[in-house]
Amino acid sequence: MSQNLSLFCVFLIFGLLTPSTCLNTPKQGSKSKGMFVFGSSLVDNGNNNFLANSLAKADFSPYGVDFPLGPSGRFTNGENVIDILGKKLKIPDYIPPFTDPSTRGTKIVHGVNFASGGSGILDATGALAGNVTSLNQQISNFEKVTLPELELQLGSNNSKEILSKFLFVVGSGGNDYSLNFFLGLAGSNVSLEAFTNTLTATLSTQLKRLHELGARKFVLMAINPNGCTPMALARVPTQEGCVENLNRASVMFNANLKNLVDDIRPQMPGSNLVFVNAYKMMSDIIRFPRSRGFRDASNSCCEVRQVSEGGTGILCKRGGSICPNRRDYVFFDGLHPTEAVNVVIATKAFSSPLRAEVYPFNVMKLSQI
Ligand SMILES: *[C@@H]1O[C@H](CO)[C@@H](O)[C@H](O)[C@H]1NC(C)=O
Ligand SMILES: *[C@@H]1O[C@H](CO)[C@@H](O)[C@H](O)[C@H]1NC(C)=O
Ligand SMILES: *[C@@H]1O[C@H](CO)[C@@H](O)[C@H](O)[C@H]1NC(C)=O
Repeated sequence: MSQNLSLFCVFLIFGLLTPSTCLNTPKQGSKSKGMFVFGSSLVDNGNNNFLANSLAKADFSPYGVDFPLGPSGRFTNGENVIDILGKKLKIPDYIPPFTDPSTRGTKIVHGVNFASGGSGILDATGALAGNVTSLNQQISNFEKVTLPELELQLGSNNSKEILSKFLFVVGSGGNDYSLNFFLGLAGSNVSLEAFTNTLTATLSTQLKRLHELGARKFVLMAINPNGCTPMALARVPTQEGCVENLNRASVMFNANLKNLVDDIRPQMPGSNLVFVNAYKMMSDIIRFPRSRGFRDASNSCCEVRQVSEGGTGILCKRGGSICPNRRDYVFFDGLHPTEAVNVVIATKAFSSPLRAEVYPFNVMKLSQI
C-alpha cells in the first residue's frame, strides 16, 4: 500500500459512540451482575495494548491524564462511557480487557470488555488500522474463551441462566464508514443506503448469535456525529460547522439501529434492547456547548499528531501538550470525547427519561428487568 494511502487510512481510524447529561445516580438496586462489552475505540479499555502491530493504541501520555491508573489504552483523558456506566450499575471494579493475560479466573465474574479500537461490524474494516479485533472475532472470543471460564467460575453449566443477568453493550459501526465506506473499500458502486443496510443486517446476525449463547439484555450505542470531530473539520474545512456527509452516514445508521430494537426482538425470545442515542446527546452539546458547561466543541484538548507530521489527525502526540481544563472541551483528541462528555452520555444512558435519548427505556430500567 502506498505511503499516502496508509497515512490516509491511519488518519481515519476509530470512531464510535457516545452521548450525554449530568444527573444524579439513582439509588435503586440493580439486578445486573455485570457487563460484556463489544465494539471499537469509544468503548475499548485497553485491548489493543496487547495486540502486536496495532496502529490504534492509546497506551501513552497524555491519554489517561485524569484516570486513576494513568494511560490504560482508553481513548480519552479519564473514564470512558463503559467505566461510568459500570459505576452506576454498582459493578465493583473496572471491567477487565479480554486481551490482558491477567483477565482470568475470578476477574471475569462481572464481565469482560472485548472492544478493539479501529475495529468494525464488518471484518474488512479493521485491516487498515493494523492488528485489530473485529466484532465477529470479539464474539468468538466471548464464546470460546470467556463463556466456558465463566461457567467454571460461577459453578454452573447453564450459561443461559447466568448470562440473562448481564448487560451486553455493543458500540460499533463508526469505523465501518471512516475506515471502509468512505475509503471506497466497499466498491465504487455501493450506495450509502445499501452499505448501511449491509451493516445493519450483519449486526443483526451478530446480536442473534449472542442471543443464542444466552444474552438477553442489550445496550446498542449509536454512532457519534463524526462530521463534527476536530479530525473531520481539519480534513474538510466547512463554512458551517460540521461535515454533512459524514453526519448523514451516522444519522442513517442510527435510524436503522433504532428500528432494529423493535424489529429484532420477536426473533430473540426473552430479550430486551435499549438504543442509546449518543448522536443526539453529543450533537446537543456541540450545538450549545456553553449552556451545557463546555467552552470548546471543535478543537481537540490534546496536541494531535497531524497527517502532515506523519500522524493520523486522530491520536494525541506522545507526551504532547494538553488543555489545562479538560472539562471545558468536548473532544480530547481528534475524534474521541473527553471524560466530561462521557459522563453526560453514560448518565443519560443510565437514567434519561427521554425516548429521544434512550429507546424504549433507559439502562437503569433494563438492568432491573
Ligand atoms: C495481533 O496481535 C496478536 C497478539 O500480540 C498476535 O498474536 C498476532 O499475530 C497479531 N496479528 C498481526 C496480524 O499482527
Ligand atoms: C457440569 O457438567 C460437568 C460435566 O458434565 C459435571 O462434571 C459438573 O459436575 C457439572 N457442574 C454443575 C455445577 O452442574
Ligand atoms: C456501476 O453502476 C453503473 C450503473 O448501474 C454501471 O453502468 C457500471 O458498470 C457499474 N460499475 C461498476 C464498476 O460496477
